[in-house]
Amino acid sequence: MSDFIHPDIVNKVESLRSALHRHNYCYYVMDDPQISDSQYDKMMQELIELEAKYPKLSSPDSPSMRVGAAPAKKFESIRHSVKMLSLENAFSDADILNFDRRVKADLMTDESILYTAEPKMDGVAVELVYENGRLISASTRGDGETGEDITANVKTIRSVPILLQPHKKEQIIPARLEVRGEVVISRQGFKRLNEDMLSQGLALFANPRNAAAGSLRQLDSKITAKRPLEIYFYGIGEVEGLSFKSHWDWLYALKELGFRINSHIKPKIIIDAVCKYYKELEDMRDELPYDIDGMVIKIDSMQFQEQLGTRARNPKWALACKFKAIQETTRVLDILVQVGRTGAVTPVACLESVNIGGVNVSRATLHNEDEIEKKDIRIGDTVLIQRAGDVIPDIVKVIDSARTGNEKIFHMPKNCPSCDSQLIRDENEASVRCINDACPAKIKAQIEHFVSKRAFDIDGLGEKLIDQLVEKKYLSSYADIFYLDKEKLEGLDRMGLKSAENLLYAIEKSKNITLARFIHALGIRHVGEHIAEILASKYGEFEKLSGATYDDLKNIKGVGPVVSQSIIDFLSRKDNLIKIERILNSGVRIRYEGSRKNTVLEGKVFVLTGTLETMTRNEAIIKIKSLGGKISESVSKNTDYLVAGKFPGSKIEKAKAAGVEIIDENSLKALTEP
Ligand code: IVH
Repeated sequence: MSDFIHPDIVNKVESLRSALHRHNYCYYVMDDPQISDSQYDKMMQELIELEAKYPKLSSPDSPSMRVGAAPAKKFESIRHSVKMLSLENAFSDADILNFDRRVKADLMTDESILYTAEPKMDGVAVELVYENGRLISASTRGDGETGEDITANVKTIRSVPILLQPHKKEQIIPARLEVRGEVVISRQGFKRLNEDMLSQGLALFANPRNAAAGSLRQLDSKITAKRPLEIYFYGIGEVEGLSFKSHWDWLYALKELGFRINSHIKPKIIIDAVCKYYKELEDMRDELPYDIDGMVIKIDSMQFQEQLGTRARNPKWALACKFKAIQETTRVLDILVQVGRTGAVTPVACLESVNIGGVNVSRATLHNEDEIEKKDIRIGDTVLIQRAGDVIPDIVKVIDSARTGNEKIFHMPKNCPSCDSQLIRDENEASVRCINDACPAKIKAQIEHFVSKRAFDIDGLGEKLIDQLVEKKYLSSYADIFYLDKEKLEGLDRMGLKSAENLLYAIEKSKNITLARFIHALGIRHVGEHIAEILASKYGEFEKLSGATYDDLKNIKGVGPVVSQSIIDFLSRKDNLIKIERILNSGVRIRYEGSRKNTVLEGKVFVLTGTLETMTRNEAIIKIKSLGGKISESVSKNTDYLVAGKFPGSKIEKAKAAGVEIIDENSLKALTEP
């Protein structure tokens, strides 16, 4: 067969593509459709048929990608160049005013701050990357640093632009643009989707957010293409080639480039108007076509945003103003007690399962005995419970009128439900504690914390498996994890050779850990993720932290006396030191990712090409970023270094043309090693 394709056909394919891109833009971004849905579908069909007949004409930028691509085997991971953070929550006007006061104090100004207020859509956060106007990747938020590659799925969403149009005024398409937004399913779309699932005998989704998340996590994008997903964009990550001084100007520019923006955004308002809009939006909540769970406010000035910076997990320039929690009534079937990793024993209510705002709830925390007494909660009571955002529900109050007289008063046990040792009530504290260090429940909870996502992140070591390992005495502390072997694992329930090998691999992989995560994993009382990060950046090495005195610690900003004492107590106990030594002897390597300031590669932009031999691509990226450098996917005049491994691609030519310095792996090492 000849390779020749008649120019009329090439032109036809091109004109169909550009018309379909344009109609998407009119429909989704401008809210101004120019053709009917059936006309659109007909054009799409024609394009798909031509592309099938002339495969040479197919292109990753074609609107036909919206019908889905070949199924994938698994999701690859994608690192976000700028961490995807979550937001601090506010629940009242008072919280909002407080935030405004804090911001002014931090910025040392008395002038009114301008905010942009946006609906907080209840869906799934995603990041899309465009290079020279073409969508090249899309990922989920993941743990904030690394997400899953869902490019094929995102391309099926009709409100996602596959090609950008130039910014009208500036006539610019940025060389690189990372945009962030929320993928949602409208209430109507959700209803239809569930009707469809029901008719096919499939399990229903609990709410639109779960449906959106489930649809994005399909390995077969043809399934995703059939789901009524929509997207609204609300922010940016790293950008090259375009810049604005205000958040609202950014949103406006995104719209010009072809991104759909929520139509209920209030730009540049002062704090009083923010409070007013908070109430208005809550009143409007049920009339909007999609679920929202609050309002997000962001300081409009990009300069102020930069000046304020971020905390461990939240930016200091934005706030999620949550709406009132959704409430339901249900019955308390029983009250059980749970032993936490610090030995704190907390009562938990087992509830008759109830659906609150789409989530099935069957447990509620009761905090402590005083709280139960204060609210007079008894077994058998009918109670009002509420879900504040996504946290575990709280019991608001008992419905007195529903009492029958058969309710039973609950008493906290005197002995630990797990090891039977006597419980101690801390002075000045409402909680009781099991102080037996050999308590299996406590050890299990410590191990669960140690392997969790934000600590050692060991995949496959779940609650049930930990239970078995502790019961069989294979694990008597988290340090023993690194001494598990195939023989021990294979003998366990529901554990085959393959899963044993997978688990051992996950353990091995976890051995390269940052100092902050390592400190967090130890489970020192009062030392959460944030304090762990402060300690890591202060000391840089674990040995230096071990040598710190109470006064050293207490003088660190953000640490304080209670935390300092707790660290000293932890590190002066022989059993803890033995555990740490065992961990380190097993080959765990702690690395310190230095603070980004004052580092040698600050501001330098690196592009990688080819195969590296003495380190993986990811290791190189981590190394560069830890020293303040940036990674870009493509070479431009802003690139400082092209790191070329074996079999480099066309980037080499581009780098030469742009006068970018090309270095090899050894030179990269020389640059990054002290
Ligand atoms: S801004 C650093 N704006 O809410 C700022 N987030 O905890 C990051 N969300 O998972 C978020 N609507 O996906 C922002 N208009 C909006 C939003 C929004 C919904 C989600 C977001 C994130 C969560 C924040």
